[in-house]
Amino acid sequence: MTITLLQHKRIVLAVTGSIAVYKAVDLASKLTQAGAVVDVIMTESAQKFVTPLTFQSVTGRSVYTDLWQTDHAGGLPTHIAHVGLGEGADLLAVIPATAHTIAKLAAGMSDDLLTVTALAARCPLIFAPAMDGGMYQHAATQHNLRTLVERGAILIEPETGRFASGLIGQGRLPETPTLIGAIRRALARQGALAGQKVVVTAGGTREAIDPVRFVSNHSSGKQGYAIAQAALDAGAEVSLISTIQSLPVPIGATLIPVNSAQEMLNAVLTESAQADILIMAAAVADFRPETIADQKIKKTDETRGLTLNLTRNPDILQTVKQGREESGFPRIVVGFAAESENLVANAQSKLARKGLDFLVGNDISASDAGFAVDTNRVILLSKAGEPETLPLMSKTEVGEYLIDRIARYTAIDR
Ligand code: C5P
Repeated sequence: MTITLLQHKRIVLAVTGSIAVYKAVDLASKLTQAGAVVDVIMTESAQKFVTPLTFQSVTGRSVYTDLWQTDHAGGLPTHIAHVGLGEGADLLAVIPATAHTIAKLAAGMSDDLLTVTALAARCPLIFAPAMDGGMYQHAATQHNLRTLVERGAILIEPETGRFASGLIGQGRLPETPTLIGAIRRALARQGALAGQKVVVTAGGTREAIDPVRFVSNHSSGKQGYAIAQAALDAGAEVSLISTIQSLPVPIGATLIPVNSAQEMLNAVLTESAQADILIMAAAVADFRPETIADQKIKKTDETRGLTLNLTRNPDILQTVKQGREESGFPRIVVGFAAESENLVANAQSKLARKGLDFLVGNDISASDAGFAVDTNRVILLSKAGEPETLPLMSKTEVGEYLIDRIARYTAIDR
């Protein structure tokens, strides 16, 4: 799967001697598949676990092991490997990082290709400790970690669990999706929305009938989650207010789980009070049962039917609009319109009525767009410009397109 943020990014992946090296092979493979250019440095002890050929095979590039090696293949900006590796790199990732390498990096030592490259490189450093729990907790290791973090390095916290030794503790290297999530956050630091707070809502609200039943709709939350990921990749701080429990939360987002429209309203008001951008991708139920039964509603032999009285839910965007007139927050508001007829006309009037900066219009009558599927076909209306009809795109692409449009709009707005 390609990842836009990783396209043509040059990542120097430095691997050290831990059994967790096998996970770094998967990481190198997934980063390469996602579009990154991965140059691997292996320490001597890393080569006791896997060979350079393993990394060469998954990255399709030379692997560097020797401080005295020169690069004649021309894959680096200069033939002096320890300078060429860092030169022009977007990120130096030491994964897995042993206690020994962490100590050397903290002390500024330079006795192998990895540590010399780390001194020469000007790009950010991210590192993921992997070691026995006792070693990780040791005051010397903790001191070294702090030194690196205070110097601006990004720490990927090790996980707690079972070690190869059979002991349990904190020191395990996280799995690939977590590592890639942390790498994305590191690369996004200079993104177009860096320093901005974005609130995204996702999923259909669930309106309780009794303690076990609810009324809801077909919204899968996929478009909202894709927008949250795109905002993260643009460097934003993201709160994701969601009714969905089954989708992986994009790494770096703060999840605020909700069920009903009323709960979503409260969460949106709290989260967007200081936010730059609110994106209401959620399918909020217009109606909810008038009363919620305290106990499960039971059928009897005589029960022939059940009538539910529904009452109107608050309109979250209208409530936000009123507050925004006084506070000025959120600075930008984006709504969605799911329509089965007259998409453009209905969306245009919704944009004005709900006081939106952008509105994403969705034709839910098309089978390849809208609810549950991975693709979407939308129109994008803006307060400031002409409507745009976008072709069939993945929800990821729609999310990235929308975030790019918003980022350009905020740049003008400031
Ligand atoms: O009016 P309609 O439901 O078509 O508007 C859709 C947009 O309004 C979406 O962005 C949705 O999240 C938002 N909405 C809301 N509160 C409601 C219903 C919808 O904020 N009660």
